[in-house]
Amino acid sequence: MVIGNDSLGYPILVCESAESPLRSFVRVHGARCILLADAQSAVLARARVLAARLPRCLGVLPFTLGEPRKRLATIERIVDALLAAGADRSTLVIGVGGGVANDTFGLAAALFMRGVPYAHVATSLLAMVDASIGGKVGVDTPAGKNLVGRFSDPVAVFADLLALRTLPFRELRAGLAEAVKHAILAGGEHFEALELLAAHRFERWPWAEIVARSLAIKAAIVRADREEHGLRATLNLGHTFAHGFERASRYRIAHGAAVTLGLRAAGLLALRSGRFSRDAHLRVLALLALLGMPLATRVPADAAFAAMRGDKKRREGSLRFVLPDAIGLVRTDVRVPDARVRVVLRAMEALPGESER
Ligand SMILES: NC(=O)c1ccc[n+]([C@@H]2O[C@H](COP(=O)([O-])OP(=O)(O)OC[C@H]3O[C@@H](n4cnc5c(N)ncnc54)[C@H](O)[C@@H]3O)[C@@H](O)[C@H]2O)c1
Ligand SMILES: [Zn+2]
Repeated sequence: MVIGNDSLGYPILVCESAESPLRSFVRVHGARCILLADAQSAVLARARVLAARLPRCLGVLPFTLGEPRKRLATIERIVDALLAAGADRSTLVIGVGGGVANDTFGLAAALFMRGVPYAHVATSLLAMVDASIGGKVGVDTPAGKNLVGRFSDPVAVFADLLALRTLPFRELRAGLAEAVKHAILAGGEHFEALELLAAHRFERWPWAEIVARSLAIKAAIVRADREEHGLRATLNLGHTFAHGFERASRYRIAHGAAVTLGLRAAGLLALRSGRFSRDAHLRVLALLALLGMPLATRVPADAAFAAMRGDKKRREGSLRFVLPDAIGLVRTDVRVPDARVRVVLRAMEALPGESER
């Protein structure tokens, strides 16, 4: 089964297996192609299976990735390897991997010979519903995340559902956290769809439908505001808190867990600000709990607050947040007094002996 979305002007295909849709795309595209793959063993094996069936393929180049390698030095290595493998300005570059692969390979392709066409095969849930949608590519510098990059649309995106079988649970949860975020943004049947599935085993979930639904929400927001002048910022729901928890824990808390904590904290803050109903807040909480997501953290409130103050979203004094007014209605740039933020952070603290899971 393949579910297509072309709302951003290029095909985004959700496939049980990317093999034959990718082959058809490469055949129609006509040019030679080359694969860049995350060297993680399952991802690399998947890339080799895909490459074996592609016409005019120059081969698979593996790169050890992970967030610490999302750097300009990796871009240079990729460019050297592309040249050595015989790629030129007409070669279609196909990246295979998660969000780090998308951002790094996508930037390398955007810079190689001033830009060659790039397609991404997403193998993590987070890349399927979030990172590979919207044309942001970039790398980190010692000063912070994604500080070097650009908007550069791919020519196609393939969500390869078969790859999810090897994805560790922790990584699945990271993608789920962003999918819940999208469901809060869109509301209605999108939120209900996750509520209906939440109590069931992940193996039984209709992933094609869930991924297609979630990426469509992001695609619609990106389409309305490609370069993030307003609406696209709603995608940061929960993220001011999440970045605070990540930073204060020295990144011991993974992004997905931090986003889950951030969604609960944003709901609490909206509730305490009189913007969000208790019923809506409890609905979100129940969904997160059913999905087995963490709801409290061992990060002390003071440490989280200090880390949030360092966040770039702080301007002119008080912190600004993306907050829900309802499930399906989210506002950006909401100023909140520091004292209220601190109260929420204290409510997020785990009880003695309790862990984040
Ligand atoms: N460009 C954007 O708009 C955007 C949006 C959100 C996030 N991001 C970026 O995405 C990155 C996070 O993405 P991610 O969570 O996919 O990280 P990731 O690419 O590092 O993947 C997570 C881990 O899963 C492994 N993996 C991936 N697919 C696998 C599979 N099928 N089987 C087994 N292991 C697999 C990877 O090797 C890695 O260890 C961050 O750098 C973030 O900044 C970008
Ligand atoms: Zn995120």
